[in-house]
Amino acid sequence: YPLEHPEQMDWSFAGPLGTYDRGQLQRGLKVYKDVCSACHSLDLVAFRTLSGLGYSEEQVKAFAAEYEIEAGPDNDGNMYMRPGIPSDYFPAPFENAEQAAASNNGAAPPDLSLMAKARGITRGFPTFIFDIFTQYQEGGPDYIHALLTGYEEPPEGVEIPAGTHYNPYFANAASLAMAPPLSEGIVSYDDGAPETVDQYARDVAAFLMWTAEPKLEDRKQTGLVVMVFLVIMAVLVFLTKKSVYARKH
Ligand code: HEM
Repeated sequence: YPLEHPEQMDWSFAGPLGTYDRGQLQRGLKVYKDVCSACHSLDLVAFRTLSGLGYSEEQVKAFAAEYEIEAGPDNDGNMYMRPGIPSDYFPAPFENAEQAAASNNGAAPPDLSLMAKARGITRGFPTFIFDIFTQYQEGGPDYIHALLTGYEEPPEGVEIPAGTHYNPYFANAASLAMAPPLSEGIVSYDDGAPETVDQYARDVAAFLMWTAEPKLEDRKQTGLVVMVFLVIMAVLVFLTKKSVYARKH
């Protein structure tokens, strides 16, 4: 199959000083909730962490309460549900992997918590040394955006397995069990952002980068301070060396 490379996008969180665009993350959460969560779990994300998207404690509580969480069986053995609280995690759409696979022609929709890192491109020595300055850090969100916007008709002469959809960006095979999940206008935005497939794909990819890398901004900031410190330290060590080993005539 003619596999395609994801297009490199301009992410606000790219580069040594990159930060997340809170508005974009909030839109991405909405896309996940309204569309992706029908099939994909987000097992590693607790509601309380959504304060990282710029939500207040009250907003997080209200968001969590929109979900029904299993609270264990009652005396008759029936599952008893309660509204979510901030310490709960996103509930999965399926009971278990078997049920998930059965609902999708045998291919279970993977958990999306770490997908943006899992599909990131990792390059070996020596390029990884320079990759802190390149767009390669954002290979994962580039891939998610490309996958969601990259469905097309199979080229002539290419047969794809029944129940799959042709997509030359798919990492494994160019045809996958997920039907195109996005269409224009499927999620409504209240901040005036365009309600297009491209915009949804960008927003949910950014959101999934945040679920995989919630501390990205802190790490970048610390990294910068460390680099500045190391430069100053190097100068001081050099001057010390010059003075200690200076010839005394
Ligand atoms: C696979 C994202 C909605 C069903 C995937 C993959 C990603 C993804 C990143 C993994 C591709 C890979 O392994 O490289 C999303 C996003 C969605 C969404 C961001 C929302 C915008 C849905 C929906 C369904 C679904 C609504 C079910 C109706 C699946 C299935 C797979 C999959 C079955 C496995 C495909 C295979 O391995 O052949 N999705 N998805 N997805 N998704 Fe989705």
